[in-house]
Amino acid sequence: MKKVGIIGLGDYLPKKILTNKDLEKMVDTSDEWITTRTGIKERHIVAKDEAASDLAIKAAKGALKAALLPPQNLELIIVATITPDMQFPSVSCLVQKALGANRACCFDISAACAGFVYGIVTAQQFIARATFKNALVIGVEVLSAITDWQDRNTCVLFGDGAGAAVLTEVKSGGILSTYLGSDGSQFELLMLPGGGSRHPASLQTVEKRMHYIKMRGNELFKLAVKIMADTAQQALARAGLKCQDIDCLIPHQANIRILLAVAKKLGLPQEKIFLNIEKYGNMSSASTAIALCEAVKEGRIKKGDIVLLDAFGAGLVWGACVIKW
Ligand code: ACO
Repeated sequence: MKKVGIIGLGDYLPKKILTNKDLEKMVDTSDEWITTRTGIKERHIVAKDEAASDLAIKAAKGALKAALLPPQNLELIIVATITPDMQFPSVSCLVQKALGANRACCFDISAACAGFVYGIVTAQQFIARATFKNALVIGVEVLSAITDWQDRNTCVLFGDGAGAAVLTEVKSGGILSTYLGSDGSQFELLMLPGGGSRHPASLQTVEKRMHYIKMRGNELFKLAVKIMADTAQQALARAGLKCQDIDCLIPHQANIRILLAVAKKLGLPQEKIFLNIEKYGNMSSASTAIALCEAVKEGRIKKGDIVLLDAFGAGLVWGACVIKW
């Protein structure tokens, strides 16, 4: 089995910023409520003519440039998203076309907020077994397209963005361990009920607002704290490491209170968690990807550091990955 590591990262945030003050004009909420209950101050929102692939392509170009890898040499493209441009074909095929990555095999992954971690783990399997030499993994979401802008319980939480990573064989370090899990019995806690084969789009599904995110936030909150802490510990144990060994925790950014509770459970000082939820809100699969990219850009992750990616989302699904940088 080959050692696999990340050799380049990129991200892209759409230009438009929607602040809590802007939301105060749209629904019955306040900057104070959103800030204290979630930690979010603002989020980025796509322009009218922007879709997931547009964001993904920009993040991908940054990651390939950082990795010094010409797109023609790419062998695998995985896009993690729950907001593709369209039901099919996959976003990864649209990215392939734009990059001219003609040799690559392409597919999408649907694992909600854990999508980027699932993508990294999937790419690792292919590279470790020498099926492919390298892979581009992208987490991208346009959650604004499936957000009910009349529902204050959800519309204050989400944002749009994309992050990308290039993986290949490395001589030392790289991915030390991974851990994935799911619990489909809890699928109703967070879902988009309309538009699939269960409830195809119709006048009724539109009238019932079934094409928007439906979430039972309070129940998810408690599960998120428990599962993210357990998942981190499982991945660390598989790497033969302890919480004290973590230099930087990159968690899925759903709610600052969840993240601080996870850190407390792990006994991790706050300065070891990377937080950017204030600027972006919850971007599902893009959150972990963008946080990793920013942490590296800001010098929060240095060569030799132990990095833990830890994510949880709709499904339910969860995943963690320990990486020696
Ligand atoms: N502004 C003002 N008041 C609000 C707002 C708002 N935007 N939203 C809800 N409220 C009100 C509610 O109506 C409720 O009022 P009531 O007591 O009169 O009924 C009150 O605030 C408290 O509501 P709760 O739902 O109990 O608030 P809570 O503290 O749980 O915070 C939140 C809600 C932020 C959604 C939280 O539960 C959360 O973050 N949950 C986890 C979300 C999550 O992890 N999601 C997904 C992971 S998967 C993924 O990322 C896609």
